[in-house]
Amino acid sequence: MIYRKEKMNNTILNWNEVDHRAIYSRQLKENPLYYDRNLNAWVVYSYEHCKTILQHADALIPPPLIEGAFSENGKLLLKSMARLSNGGQHDTSRAAAMAVFAKIKLVSAGMILKDILDGIPTGDDFDWVDAVAKQLPVRLLLKGLDFNADDSKYVAENLKNLVSIMLPNKTDHDIQWLNPVVDIVYQVAEKYTGILRMLTGEKQTNEVVISNLIGLFIQCYDAGRGLLCNSLLNMVKYKGNKITGWNKLVDETLRHDPPVHNTRRLAATDIAIGGQTIKAGETILVVLAAANLDENVFTNPAQFDLTRGNNDQHLTFGLGGHNCLAKHLCIDMAADVCRFLEENYGHIQILQREFTYETQLNVRLVKQLMISLK
Ligand code: HEM
Repeated sequence: MIYRKEKMNNTILNWNEVDHRAIYSRQLKENPLYYDRNLNAWVVYSYEHCKTILQHADALIPPPLIEGAFSENGKLLLKSMARLSNGGQHDTSRAAAMAVFAKIKLVSAGMILKDILDGIPTGDDFDWVDAVAKQLPVRLLLKGLDFNADDSKYVAENLKNLVSIMLPNKTDHDIQWLNPVVDIVYQVAEKYTGILRMLTGEKQTNEVVISNLIGLFIQCYDAGRGLLCNSLLNMVKYKGNKITGWNKLVDETLRHDPPVHNTRRLAATDIAIGGQTIKAGETILVVLAAANLDENVFTNPAQFDLTRGNNDQHLTFGLGGHNCLAKHLCIDMAADVCRFLEENYGHIQILQREFTYETQLNVRLVKQLMISLK
């Protein structure tokens, strides 16, 4: 048999049947900083370079396209969300997001899970993604902010549509379809920021607060879903290992199997890094999930290891000015879910061997996760 030497492909264009860890490991060794011609972007793999870019004052969040078809509220959201803003606007928006976040009361994720599971006939197989992972994070926020049943239902049911505001390449048709959802959620968010006494007489300040409450809902959706899926998979897979605490399992899951794989930046000026120059105007893909496999920071990085001392040094929540403000809440949420499952079910079975993944490339999310709980 003749073996032809294939040119290695380092560009991930979908998650199905792609060994992403092999690509990350190879790139960490061979090209920790790499210009990817397929993506027209610099791709940053190593822990050190990811850190540098995330903390660099001139590596900006790419501005969202705020096309004319958006309703006024849609435009406000895109302009005001902390996740999408830079500079002085980001300072104001992040402060608003943190002020709203601080109003979220502590709620047991286990109790919310119980509520959800009570609605599923005992003994039935069900899809953890649809039934639990897409619902629980937002319900935790809604309950923590005392939303009433009707408003919670509207936000939770429409979040899957609302989050599409973050997608690039939206058509006018997509936007017109999205506008009514944005407008209703905006009114609901205005009502609760009022109840929470967060609105002042100043219109612009109020708009930033309202938008950033909605921003919290949007941010919790995909990443929270992925974290609940990957934590469950690892809880079952490693149940024989000595588990020293559920938070530890969640931390190692965030390092080894992160739901969020990368984030983008735009160079505002020339950036010198790793002996290269990223030119002003060039796009940078920061591969957080590859940094988590960097052997300069994590010994035997490919191994899922609950005893490693530094698993919480992963970059899955980002770093620098835009780092995730909900990290502790997320870890506690996932740990609480694992604890509840362990305490209440002797037999948790994953009914799938093969998984397919959503098409988004910044996150790696299983489409379906069929399980049974007994
Ligand atoms: C309740 C759930 C969550 C909420 C409310 C939330 C909220 C936020 C917010 C508001 C930001 C923007 C911060 C800023 O720009 O100043 C952010 C950033 C971020 N979040 Fe979260 N988040 C949640 C869950 C997660 C999870 C589960 C992950 C990962 C597993 C995650 C990963 C990130 C990352 C990587 C960033 C930084 C993005 C960047 O720098 O480009 N988040 N989050």
